[in-house]
Amino acid sequence: MEDVYILAIETSCDETSMAIVKNGKFVDSLTILTQMDTHANFGGVVPEIASRMHAENITMVLEETLNKSHVTMEEISAIAVTYAPGLLGSLLVGLECAKVLSYVYNKPLIKVNHTLGHIFANNLENDIVYPSLALVVSGGHTDLVLLNSEFDMEVLGSSLDDAIGEVYDKVARVLKMPYPGGPNIEKKALLGSPTYDMPILMNDDSYNFSFSGLKSYIINLVHNETQRNNEIRINDLACSFQKTAVDELCRKVDLALTKNQVKNMILAGGVSANQYLRKEIAKVCKKYNVLLHVPDIIYCTDNGAMIGAAAYPLYKAHIFADYKINAKSSETIKKYIEQNDK
Ligand code: KG4
Ligand code: ZN
Repeated sequence: MEDVYILAIETSCDETSMAIVKNGKFVDSLTILTQMDTHANFGGVVPEIASRMHAENITMVLEETLNKSHVTMEEISAIAVTYAPGLLGSLLVGLECAKVLSYVYNKPLIKVNHTLGHIFANNLENDIVYPSLALVVSGGHTDLVLLNSEFDMEVLGSSLDDAIGEVYDKVARVLKMPYPGGPNIEKKALLGSPTYDMPILMNDDSYNFSFSGLKSYIINLVHNETQRNNEIRINDLACSFQKTAVDELCRKVDLALTKNQVKNMILAGGVSANQYLRKEIAKVCKKYNVLLHVPDIIYCTDNGAMIGAAAYPLYKAHIFADYKINAKSSETIKKYIEQNDK
């Protein structure tokens, strides 16, 4: 079969990114332009600013991606784009760019769910071995997904409230660390010990998660201690929070591995860059003799390459989108799977 080159576009949040991915696996060219420094001034992503910056930068990102690539626009097999979930205005910039490229160059258009992209980032480094269990941990989602094959998936559980990355960011914010908080909490936690008492999270046997209680507990603790002029041991608090959150993720992964025979465990999403999480999940996988795959750090946070990887099975199956597709800000992976099951 001829090599397939997919030009993939990702603009769901605060990264304008494009990649050219060969056969869903080899990254021929990748550009990631992050807006992080701008949003850091506001303590989080400002949607209006994000979409304006995507509009300003997307053509330059396209130019750079093509300049770095071995193939020309004419040799591209298809255009893939994140259409959901994410910030509406941001998604629309990438989506319109993809539609225009598809129309002008007469290439098929492939729509990709962002969360699925995070999962398929694991195919860039290794081959996902089925059946596989994926833990998606990002700023917007916390999901446990059972993958029976490229097209047969089941969401075992999800966060009932805040996503784990969002909680990292909120805890960091109350501790006056810059956005994005996740990497900063991780650094501080390395210097501390888990000496703060933390609440018990969902004490149940479902695969769902709930982190909002932990978030509120820490915010209240910081406010109360500040009012009383008591010292807050930031490193210890970061360490206590991280341990509690990661213990809960591990507990649910452990439960899922007890009940489902899988060959492969996959970590996906921005929080999977966290070394402590990687180490603790590795321990659980060892217990069940399950092979653990984690994406390279650059493919953990938002990037176009993961969208190219997720688009490849759709290309092979000739599942193409028409020009009527619109951005969907809140399409969960569960909704995506249910719609595509029909
Ligand atoms: O996947 P991603 O880039 O964007 C979304 O789709 O949400 O994830 C971003 C999230 C942020 O909440 C960020 O704080 C978190 O990933 N994150 C981390 C680390 N690196 C990024 N959280 C914990 N430890 C890290 N090292
Ligand atoms: Zn993401």
